[in-house]
Amino acid sequence: MVCEILSLNFNKITAQKKIPKKLAVQEQVDPSELKDKIIESHIDIVSVCNLSCPTCVQGNMDSISGGVMSLDLFKKIITKLKSDFPDLKDIFLYNWTEPLLHNKLPEFVEIVNKADFRSHLSANLNHIKNLEDVIKNNPYAIRISLSGFTQEVYQKGHRDGNIETVKQNMKTLSNLIKKYHASTKVTVNYIKYQHNLFEIPAMKKFALDLGFNIQTFWACLMGVETTLQYLHTPEKIEKSMHDLVPQLGREPRELLNLLKSYNKRSCSLLEHQLVLNANGEVQQCCASLTPPFPFNSKDTYLDLTPEQISSRRHNAEICKTCMDEGINVMIGSKWDDDELVLHSKIKNKLYKIREKVRSFKKFVR
Ligand SMILES: C[S@@+](CC[C@H](N)C(=O)[O-])C[C@H]1O[C@@H](n2cnc3c(N)ncnc32)[C@H](O)[C@@H]1O
Ligand code: SF4
Ligand code: SF4
Repeated sequence: MVCEILSLNFNKITAQKKIPKKLAVQEQVDPSELKDKIIESHIDIVSVCNLSCPTCVQGNMDSISGGVMSLDLFKKIITKLKSDFPDLKDIFLYNWTEPLLHNKLPEFVEIVNKADFRSHLSANLNHIKNLEDVIKNNPYAIRISLSGFTQEVYQKGHRDGNIETVKQNMKTLSNLIKKYHASTKVTVNYIKYQHNLFEIPAMKKFALDLGFNIQTFWACLMGVETTLQYLHTPEKIEKSMHDLVPQLGREPRELLNLLKSYNKRSCSLLEHQLVLNANGEVQQCCASLTPPFPFNSKDTYLDLTPEQISSRRHNAEICKTCMDEGINVMIGSKWDDDELVLHSKIKNKLYKIREKVRSFKKFVR
């Protein structure tokens, strides 16, 4: 299966339109057997970004499919989500794009809040045209993604961005939150590379002084397809991404090796997440660019039942490949410098397995 994907002549990360029909999937699973519990939805409301970070698909593709989502389409999507998925709580108005580029972002936030979902944004914060109106509408949470405190360091991970502009915009955001008494939780996502570790303390102080939280995590080569390319046809990935590999916390192959003993045959993204692009088309998960639908399909989320979506996603070839390689475990795990800290869900599963083994051993004795 891996060979099937990797034998394709990728020049860049797999763009949806370039995927051949043989990756299309059939509806084989009995919907009544599916137990998906969708709790979060990621919706790209634009298909572009103002930056081109080397480890992001935006930095490695000509374009991401989808245009600019209309408010009308978004309202219909939210109404359907509400009725399809009773456990859905969180709407993330981004996946591979910059939400602040949509000039109607304040209305999007308002619609999400009125539907009683929690509205989440994540932004590079180089562009804040509508920020005041966004904050007036009190989004539930905003993440600010960055990778350094000085321009020399920041630009390595955030190509085309300007950290001084970001810092200025962070101050503006802090002031707006105070001005409108917004309850929005702001967290700085400090994306770690070996080259930017020494600037964490300066950014931490800056963020905390503004009343924001800060979390740090290692950069990865974003996108399941990117990781597959890196593993099997490294010569096909962009040079700028290649250059950043030695700056990662661990080399991806080494990390996959460390994780290989963990269960690979389930994926929380598959079971708990629904991702839509700016056209309203269903994506496989937040980490994959391969659509779970046949290519000639013009179906959007609005045309599909939850069972159809679930069935198609669970049969998608990309998941089998991803699980074979253990990429799903890598994506679903949090780890730091010396130890791998697995997500609580995986940890719980392992704990249960160990308990079973222990009681079986006791029983045998
Ligand atoms: C692709 S970004 C899209 C949203 C927005 N443009 C931004 O950068 O925050 C989605 C999430 O990926 C995270 N991210 C960005 N680069 C990353 C990397 N190299 N490795 C892991 N996560 C990354 C960001 O912090 C963000 O929350
Ligand atoms: S990580 Fe965010 S800011 Fe960077 S290119 Fe991707 S979408 Fe844009
Ligand atoms: S198995 Fe991989 S491709 Fe499939 S949903 Fe999980 S992370 Fe995405």
